[in-house]
Amino acid sequence: MKKTIVLLPGDGIGPEVTRAAATVLRETGHEFHHQFEMQEFAIGGAALDSAGTPLPTETLEACRKADAVFLGAVGGPKWDSLPVGKRPERGLLDLRQGLGLYVNVRPVKLLESLGGISPLKPERTKDLDLEIVRELAGGMYFGERGSVTENGVERAFDTESYSTPEIERIATFSYARAESRSRRICSVDKANVLASSQLWRRTITSMSAVYPMIKLEHMYVDNAAMQLVLRPSQFDVILTSNMFGDILSDAAAALVGSIGLIPSASFGSGCPVFEPIHGSAPSLVGTDSANPVGSILSVTMMLRDAFGLSLEADWVEQSLLRVLSGGYRTPDISEPGARTVAGSVFAEILREEMQRTLEHAERYGWGV
Ligand code: IPM
Ligand code: MG
Repeated sequence: MKKTIVLLPGDGIGPEVTRAAATVLRETGHEFHHQFEMQEFAIGGAALDSAGTPLPTETLEACRKADAVFLGAVGGPKWDSLPVGKRPERGLLDLRQGLGLYVNVRPVKLLESLGGISPLKPERTKDLDLEIVRELAGGMYFGERGSVTENGVERAFDTESYSTPEIERIATFSYARAESRSRRICSVDKANVLASSQLWRRTITSMSAVYPMIKLEHMYVDNAAMQLVLRPSQFDVILTSNMFGDILSDAAAALVGSIGLIPSASFGSGCPVFEPIHGSAPSLVGTDSANPVGSILSVTMMLRDAFGLSLEADWVEQSLLRVLSGGYRTPDISEPGARTVAGSVFAEILREEMQRTLEHAERYGWGV
């Protein structure tokens, strides 16, 4: 198989976790005889510094032509004083828009052998395996915004708005996703207050007749936040808006121990983008303690969901689980008695374990 993959390391720990992702892709290409051509481009603060814009035209053009994009992270204190439309984060939002990406899937699953690092009691995290399907192209992050000064008083505003087709397309994706999982959707909104949420709820409910096999329920976002903490295993697919998905996914990530563990995949009309959800984590820069797991699992999503390479994805995932059950941890997921190592060392240990998996495929029950 021949694929072109654009790497966008971005800022903060982005370059570190992108290196880990690239290693996994290189190894996969090598061992399974795929030609993965990787090209690196600038985005975010790095692009602001080098090209004066958070999303240079050549970056977007390269992504448009690629088969998949891997993104590290954007943002950092250096650019914090810039106005909203000129910050590194704008580069990511423009990339999503430029590629027509309207779906963002964030799987949150308690990994084998990591039960001990969840802040929840073990009985609460039993069977915790959910997916947040976040609408990615609309809502408040793309609505009209601005500020006005009247009688010497400044007022700033952002607008939340959704159209029926925007809701239908994300719901269609979610219904299909739920069909391949436990067939339950919890749609999260704030329909007791927001008009856009009322349309959201009405549209999703009216579509449920087409999917009689899927159990649909609705929840207000404040209650959903509480239920996530109280009983996260009640959820299968959580379908929600851009802003609520952004917030709930960080909260859900904390339940399984660290935001550094969570991958994501974005789909739409153009090239899909795969990125860990942890962000640029400025305080970790230069310490080699970034957790590469979210990034590596984003690569397995790329292999499986963009290229249809399940065997290869299983290979990486099974090897990763064995590294964790061998007690290896990055500092964010360390526990007493664990073998805590630097991020780059963890990635290297994984690479070695991937080799072992190939050598002992039968014993490990991989690919047989
Ligand atoms: C995320 C991030 C981004 C978002 C920022 C960096 C623009 O928080 O992917 O969750 O809000 O979508
Ligand atoms: Mg976020």
